[in-house]
Amino acid sequence: MKKNLSIALLSSIALLPFAAFSQNNANTQEIKDKMQWFADAKLGIFIHAGIYSVNGIDESWSFHNKKISYTDYMKQLKGFTLKNYDPAFWADLIQESGAKYAVITTKHHDGVAMYDTKLNDLSIVQKTPAKRDMVKPFFEQLRKRGIKCGAYFSLIDWSDNNYPGFLNDSSKYQLANDYDRWNRFRSFFQGQIKEISTRFNPDLWWFDGDWEHSAEEWEAKKVRDLILSHNPKAIINGRLQGNGDYETPEQNFPVTRPNYKWWELCMTTNDNWGFHYDNNWKTPYEVISIFVDVVSNGGNLLLDMGPKEDGTIPPEQINVLKELGAWNKKNGEAIFNTIGGLQQGHFYGPSTLSKDSATLYLFLHGKQSGPIMIKGLNNKIQEITVLGNGTRLQPKVVGKISWSPVPGLVYIDVPDSVADKYITVLKIKLDKAVSLYKGNGGLN
Ligand code: GLC
Repeated sequence: MKKNLSIALLSSIALLPFAAFSQNNANTQEIKDKMQWFADAKLGIFIHAGIYSVNGIDESWSFHNKKISYTDYMKQLKGFTLKNYDPAFWADLIQESGAKYAVITTKHHDGVAMYDTKLNDLSIVQKTPAKRDMVKPFFEQLRKRGIKCGAYFSLIDWSDNNYPGFLNDSSKYQLANDYDRWNRFRSFFQGQIKEISTRFNPDLWWFDGDWEHSAEEWEAKKVRDLILSHNPKAIINGRLQGNGDYETPEQNFPVTRPNYKWWELCMTTNDNWGFHYDNNWKTPYEVISIFVDVVSNGGNLLLDMGPKEDGTIPPEQINVLKELGAWNKKNGEAIFNTIGGLQQGHFYGPSTLSKDSATLYLFLHGKQSGPIMIKGLNNKIQEITVLGNGTRLQPKVVGKISWSPVPGLVYIDVPDSVADKYITVLKIKLDKAVSLYKGNGGLN
């Protein structure tokens, strides 16, 4: 009895995407309900649109890192046209990729608003030949397709005169010496947040740059309340000094499963966030294998694209999204609405589980075929099929001694003929919710 209990306990720990988590209030039912669409979504598309696409240089960081002067950086305003911007095409492409949400820059660290802010004149509407708001028509097109809308917003504003960083070193000031000035900045950035809230009502807020000030200095709790008072269901990413709902590892995540309840890996498709003359594109295989790894560990992927100044999307980017979409169409059952899969050790590759944990999906990287093996599976297997193909495969259980609690090893022979172009998925129907053996072999 004791043994059975501990096996059950260990199995359920292995089942939970994460045993413990760090977010504020993460245990309240309200937050869990609010986060459900996000947990099910798995894939979002990040869009770094900004004047930095004119020269194809680092978003904001290029002037911060003195690769270009601030004056020359701002000259890019004159070249930002959006003359071929087609938000319906963007939204179609995002939908085709399988993504369930998209996040667009409303303002990056350079302070240039991508919408029609009324709080200063530094916007693409006022200062560029585009003369238009990018965010509004994009959100309209997303919403027509049932895709959730996210607003990236940089807390840092390296152009605002009241921001105590970067610009005009001589005008830099210490907060403690001039809190009135800092208050002017606070009412400005919080005013922009109100504008974005009331005009666009984002489903998700993606803050950035919180590291330059403390929660108290940003009034992070107040910012959170401001957003939630307008839309109690809005999700807020973790870059708000402890006042967000989920974690945001960047470009890479830890080798072992992160200990977060909700998380999202944001990742570039080449080596830059915004449009660059950079040809180090990830291949569809690389993107799909990273995506699968993320989902198998209970997270989401926020895959970035950097459109050009005229609003067109580089063809390599389009290709990756289409290939990802085709793969999702065939294999999406193993991705969307699932939960993180087996902990390391049971199977040498990524896996996911249906919400009732009675179906296990195994992902076979790189055209892998031949015998694969599952270790420590207490369940009986009812059926194995190759997703999107329908071929049935037979398990072979070896080393199972009838009177021992140690489960045998399950071998499944995967023929070459069923291989997916990128990653093959096996669907394994179990007799009941997965139960995993965690003992040391022998009699326990
Ligand atoms: C970093 C960078 C920023 C980029 C963001 C995307 O925080 O400061 O330039 O937009 O990552 O995650």
